[in-house]
Amino acid sequence: MGKSDLLLELYSNLSTTGAVTFSSKTLVKKMLTHVDFKGAKLIIELGGGDGSITKGIVDNLDPDSELLVFEISKSFCKSMEKLFPQDNVRIINDSAENIGKYLQGKKADYVLSSLPFSFIAPEVRDQILCQSKTALTQSGFFIQICYSYLLKNLFKKHFEGVNTSFTLKNLPPAFVMVCR
Ligand SMILES: C[S@@+](CC[C@H](N)C(=O)[O-])C[C@H]1O[C@@H](n2cnc3c(N)ncnc32)[C@H](O)[C@@H]1O
Repeated sequence: MGKSDLLLELYSNLSTTGAVTFSSKTLVKKMLTHVDFKGAKLIIELGGGDGSITKGIVDNLDPDSELLVFEISKSFCKSMEKLFPQDNVRIINDSAENIGKYLQGKKADYVLSSLPFSFIAPEVRDQILCQSKTALTQSGFFIQICYSYLLKNLFKKHFEGVNTSFTLKNLPPAFVMVCR
């Protein structure tokens, strides 16, 4: 899939993609400054999309570590499977509500999400956040990219602490919320 096909898929499904463009390199870099790749054995990404965050993770991922990427769009999944053929990267065409089905008892060090929570039904977002919390080790982090500061209240319902930073270098300007 070329860039224009990826954007067409994004615009054609605005109610599930919830974005006008993919995350900028600056935003991805900002999100990933919160990740200690050396200590991480399992990372989960929610909402892989075009793979812009996935690429940042894969570029830093230890060869012994594993990355699971959840994405509901079949087209995005097909494109990411081509982009990331590495044995330690698994693209999963399923909703983030179902994380637990794929973990086989393993725990993740990080859940990195760009899911459009403002567009997701309340019961589904609670399910995704419960599953994410359960999937994490005790010292694990849930890190979210979002456009609305109000979402902080949602994350506070599920995590004890939420630290927020902001960047203007994204369309639209975005927050990175680090939760544990
Ligand atoms: C805002 S886009 C982010 C794409 C890319 N990661 C980025 O940062 O530019 C959100 C992505 O989440 C996917 N998505 C939405 N709901 C989902 C769900 N319940 N489970 C998994 N993926 C979902 C959409 O299909 C879309 O690709």
